[in-house]
Amino acid sequence: MTTAAPTPPPKLTIKIDGREIAYEKGDTIIRAAYKAGIDIPHYCWHPGLSVAANCRMCLVEVLPPPGRPAMQLDILRWDAEKNEYIPQKKPKLLPACQQDCAPGMEVLSESSANVDEARSAVQELLLLNHPVDCPICDQAGECRLQDYWLEHQRKGKRMHQEPVHKPKAVVFGPTIVYDAERCIVCTRCVRVSAELARDPVLSIRERGNLGEVVVSPGRELDHDYTLMTEHVCPVGALTSADFRFKARVWFLRSARTICQGCATGCNAFLDYDPRNNTPYRHRPRDNEQVNKYWMCDEGMLSYKHAIEDRQTVALVGGEDTHLADALIAAKEQLKGMKDDPERVAIILSAQHSVEDNFALLTLARTYIGAVDFFVSGKPLGRGDTILMNEDKNPNTRGVIALVASTSNAGGAVAAPRPIADLLKGIQAGKYTFAIGLGADLEVDAKEAKSALSKLRGFVVIASHEGPLPQSAHVVLPACAWIEAEGTYVNHKGIAQLSHKALRALDEARPGWQLVADLGKALGYATTWKRVSDLRAAMPAEVQAPKPGVGEPTQPTEPTAAAAVAAPIQANP
Ligand code: SF4
Ligand code: SF4
Ligand code: FES
Repeated sequence: MTTAAPTPPPKLTIKIDGREIAYEKGDTIIRAAYKAGIDIPHYCWHPGLSVAANCRMCLVEVLPPPGRPAMQLDILRWDAEKNEYIPQKKPKLLPACQQDCAPGMEVLSESSANVDEARSAVQELLLLNHPVDCPICDQAGECRLQDYWLEHQRKGKRMHQEPVHKPKAVVFGPTIVYDAERCIVCTRCVRVSAELARDPVLSIRERGNLGEVVVSPGRELDHDYTLMTEHVCPVGALTSADFRFKARVWFLRSARTICQGCATGCNAFLDYDPRNNTPYRHRPRDNEQVNKYWMCDEGMLSYKHAIEDRQTVALVGGEDTHLADALIAAKEQLKGMKDDPERVAIILSAQHSVEDNFALLTLARTYIGAVDFFVSGKPLGRGDTILMNEDKNPNTRGVIALVASTSNAGGAVAAPRPIADLLKGIQAGKYTFAIGLGADLEVDAKEAKSALSKLRGFVVIASHEGPLPQSAHVVLPACAWIEAEGTYVNHKGIAQLSHKALRALDEARPGWQLVADLGKALGYATTWKRVSDLRAAMPAEVQAPKPGVGEPTQPTEPTAAAAVAAPIQANP
């Protein structure tokens, strides 16, 4: 007897301006529109926060079901000809951020004159006491007030009285400066502190045009997600002490990066100025599976380390040398290495990309025949249950997966060992040579240097100064993550691609290319010429899908500024 296939539940849909879109049970109108890539203007709504419904910019007209009368409001409309107010009726508009979808609902957003009028009125209200100091405001170019004025108001100010004055340049904490006159009291920053950081340190004082954000008495805004308050602020009221007055956003370009601050691998945009090859800020890129809409302060400020304490030229015996000469010195230093591969230690790096590690692993296995692999990286740090991981390396899982998946047929090597094991091995006279990747070590630097100095030949490929290059006979200068495309596997095992932003400094080259150069100097011709050749050879589990998990899963809302200038990707 055959049983009939269960009938799928009817697809839930609503119509916005005549366009039918699907929604899930519990979606509000604005969330359904957001998921469908339709922009309903909003200030206080944010896809990752609770609904406050206080700005009223998202008002829409919801048509009554067939046969039912529309909900109407009694109003007085000015009649210029009669020179008096005339009683009239108009549909009651609803906030799209608070109104749940219902099957078959018909919503008018862009196509309703009533909505257009309401949005214009909201804009006028919000700008009544606003200083409109756009020329000196950091938000200019990506400000909702600017964008929505152009889209929904386009009229001059009618109020000629002195606006309400409020506190300016209030230091909220080490990272944030507040301008109460620019604040539209949308409470996004208050909700970020309470809901994301779980530290309700911000609140609103007073009401109406006297309203302003304040920090709890005796406190500073100093939790781990303070820069998220500035990031969600739709206007220029909250500014980042780090970015404040440093750059105009229309000169910046954005690269899709992966944060290097910890093993979470938050998706980010790195905003940089191509004219002076300088990064200015790191900010979240939406990815539901990884970081949703957020990043921690540590990660947002971590972009600076990419250009600090760099190793941009080759070193031989601690002296600056041309790369070509350093490669000749490396060959000399590693002479005799192939005779006894068991005496060669290979140090992979949880700080470097899969590509760099895979290149070194391939050289070590195919050319040298090495069997002992170790992993270097930053020591464990502070984690939390929100985003921050205790592992402060972006690619620990990538290195582990690489070593496991490329183990010899006999399964001789299953996992890379910690540096402490390497140091013990050197002290016991087990290793004579080492080739390493990276600069950081999770062990005591002095102890490490003393052990590593016992090696006869030690070559390191590093992008930064640190205990590893300081202990090496020859150092080859690698690109920092910001200067080269690379794949990083986060603590959940998700492989993600970080794109190149800046031009490489001095003689720095991508780590995988230096491995190929070293291989060539040692008499081994690698089969990869481009990063794509290398990727094609990498195991599937460490390859970032393209496009895929590393790309935003939520639509990025366009703003007027983004449409004109194009370089900066807008935030929700
Ligand atoms: S400071 Fe910004 S985010 Fe906070 S309430 Fe004011 S406008 Fe909203
Ligand atoms: S949680 Fe980790 S990956 Fe995410 S922003 Fe912070 S440091 Fe970067
Ligand atoms: S977005 Fe502010 S009221 Fe809906």
